[in-house]
Amino acid sequence: MADWAKLVDLKDIGEGMTAVTLDGRGYVVAVIEDEYVCFDALCPHRQASLIDGFLEENVVTCPLHGWRFDLQSKGKEIHGYRSLRTYETRVENGTILIKMENDL
Ligand code: FES
Repeated sequence: MADWAKLVDLKDIGEGMTAVTLDGRGYVVAVIEDEYVCFDALCPHRQASLIDGFLEENVVTCPLHGWRFDLQSKGKEIHGYRSLRTYETRVENGTILIKMENDL
C-alpha cells in the first residue's frame, strides 16, 4: 500500500535539479523533458550528495566516484552497480506529490 505526499510547490522547482526535504529525508527533483523525476538525495554507493552531481539528459552522475544513474529507467546504474531509488510523482494543484512506499 502506498500514499501520496506533498513534496514541493512547482514554483520552487528550478531548471535541472532541485534539492527538497520531506520529513527529514532528502530528495532531488530533476526536470527531464518536462517531467518531474524524484530520487534519493544520497548516492547508494557511499552517500555522496547527488545535488552536487551532474545531470545530462536523463542521466545523473555522482560527483564522488562517477556512478551514473538512468532516471528514465528507475534509477538503474548504467554499469550494473546498485540502482538509485526513484519515486513516482504526479502534479496536483501546482504541487508535486510523490508516492511513498510503506518501507520509508
Ligand atoms: S558515492 Fe556515488 S559513486 Fe561513490
